[in-house]
Amino acid sequence: MKVPSNEPAIRLVMLPKYTNPDGDIFGGIILSMIDEAAAVEAQRQAHHRYVTVSMDSVQFHLPVQVGDIVSLWCQTIKIGRTSIKIHVDVLAHPRCSDEEHKVTEATVTMVAIDMDRNAVPVFGV
Ligand SMILES: CC(C)(COP(=O)(O)OP(=O)(O)OC[C@H]1O[C@@H](n2cnc3c(N)ncnc32)[C@H](O)[C@@H]1OP(=O)(O)O)[C@@H](O)C(=O)NCCC(=O)NCCS
Repeated sequence: MKVPSNEPAIRLVMLPKYTNPDGDIFGGIILSMIDEAAAVEAQRQAHHRYVTVSMDSVQFHLPVQVGDIVSLWCQTIKIGRTSIKIHVDVLAHPRCSDEEHKVTEATVTMVAIDMDRNAVPVFGV
């Protein structure tokens, strides 16, 4: 297992197109970014085609606003035979603040698959 990356898997500014009618960022947008970030982290560990098999322990701590710069930090917590379990922390940096805060976190399990969509070993056979 590689050591945790010293940079976020994804960093993105939150645009108005991501909002709900109340002006907050949709939770589903954050979940989609978590999924993408976990895929980036899985690729960093070992090159494969991956699918998401589960997303657990999702916690929305705080709302995200338009203009926030959102960073997704990944930590691989377990590599099994064919799966990689990754914890993702989502941090938001509001435009008018010097501070970042954790807005969401989740644990994602990605499975390495072959061209027939069968699970394959992450490392070796
Ligand atoms: C992921 C998938 C390939 C697993 O296939 P499978 O034949 O069930 O494979 P297995 O039962 O051997 O499980 C493969 C690995 O996934 C893990 N796994 C299976 N279900 C899991 C779950 N609900 N949560 C966490 N891990 C799970 C197993 O523990 C195993 O890990 P390991 O090899 O590291 O021990 C298959 O279920 C699949 O294609 N699912 C759809 C994925 C998808 O389309 N995702 C996008 C959603 S839009």
